[in-house]
Amino acid sequence: MVQLSKKNIVLCVTGGIACYKSVMLASLLKKEGANVFVVMTKNATKFVNPVTFKNITKNKVTTKMFANDDFVPHISLADLADLVIIAPATANIIAKASYGIADDMVSTLLVSSKAPKFIIPAMNTNMYLNPITQENIQRLKKFDFKVLEPDTGMLACGVEGVGRFPEIEKIYGFILKNLGDRNSVFYNKKILITLGGTVEDIDPVRCITNRSSGKMGFSFAEEFIIKGANVKIICGNVSSLELHNFQKKFCDTEIQFVRSAKDMKEAVTQNIDNFDLLFMASAVADYSPEYSESKIKKENDDLVLKLRKTEDILKSIPKKENKIYVGFAAESDNLIENAKNKLIKKQLDFVIANEIVGEQAAIGNDKASVFILNKWNVDIKKIDYSQKSVIAKSVCNELEELIKKNTPSLLK
Ligand SMILES: Cc1cc2nc3c(=O)[nH]c(=O)nc-3n(C[C@H](O)[C@H](O)[C@H](O)COP(=O)(O)O)c2cc1C
Repeated sequence: MVQLSKKNIVLCVTGGIACYKSVMLASLLKKEGANVFVVMTKNATKFVNPVTFKNITKNKVTTKMFANDDFVPHISLADLADLVIIAPATANIIAKASYGIADDMVSTLLVSSKAPKFIIPAMNTNMYLNPITQENIQRLKKFDFKVLEPDTGMLACGVEGVGRFPEIEKIYGFILKNLGDRNSVFYNKKILITLGGTVEDIDPVRCITNRSSGKMGFSFAEEFIIKGANVKIICGNVSSLELHNFQKKFCDTEIQFVRSAKDMKEAVTQNIDNFDLLFMASAVADYSPEYSESKIKKENDDLVLKLRKTEDILKSIPKKENKIYVGFAAESDNLIENAKNKLIKKQLDFVIANEIVGEQAAIGNDKASVFILNKWNVDIKKIDYSQKSVIAKSVCNELEELIKKNTPSLLK
């Protein structure tokens, strides 16, 4: 899924040791569909040759204010930019930008552009913690620059401390989060997402779980974050790769880990009052075994487990007028009919229904096809078999449309 398609991003590179990492950032932004224009300070060109950026971005790299052509780069690029990123940002450019100094191409562009500006500082710990640098960063924040705190770890100068250029995925997540779509009904809304499978313990070593990887839920979490929502995740048993990939991008998203259906219910109940929208993408056990304190011995040929019905989380939550409740239906038979029943019985606003058998089975896979059912009896919408990230985008757009049309005051 390309998240930045049609976006013009001006990437300003200043003279720090992390310049070479900015090449990877340019490459990722390009891969995500952005048109990337690199502007380098004179000192940055000492670390990385502009040719590298030119080849990665397929655009001319600007290094001079006064080039021998009609193009006035600081104004053209400033007007063109949907977003300006300074990565790495030296202590020097942070100081200059915070005072509106415009004495080279990068600093002049920062004064000229009305686009959102994101700063990724990277420097030696003493430089970063210097009260002057800190005050300059605070001043930039006051002028609406978004600043990503550098990582802590081993720095190029051999010192251990704060100042490291963050991982590229973290910068990418920071960009997505801060580009939040202000026109979205989800902008600034609090969204509680449950995802993954639950684990029901049989005895100290055995359990019953399901094949949910959490991928669908993480894709939705990413999509809501991009739309500017404040997301909290209640996370059951998920693939560690999916969790890792999500946390690399969105490390500051709150995640509460739970194990059983009972734990998940408690977590949802405790949190629900603070949220505008509940999105239950988790695969919650319908039945849970009686727990044996000691390990069940392998004695008889047959072993009978007694299972008890778990409490239905979505059904048990008292519904409030000004909130939205979204459930999932995973069915092998009569998908639409069962999903409709779920919508009505549990008093939901939406049900996302997906197949769990056959070639297009959703659970545990990277792809799915889904149907979106809604409480207003607007025609059921099908989203064809595609990557879960694409499904999440299409579903979020559809939910948004239906919420806007049918309850314009809701989520306002
Ligand atoms: C090898 C070397 C590495 C440097 N690394 C950094 C750095 O990581 N961060 C930083 O703020 N300055 C660093 N500096 C200092 C800047 O290059 C210096 O402040 C310069 O004036 C910045 O210019 P610019 O902001 O116009 O690119 C480094 C200098 C050298 C020689």
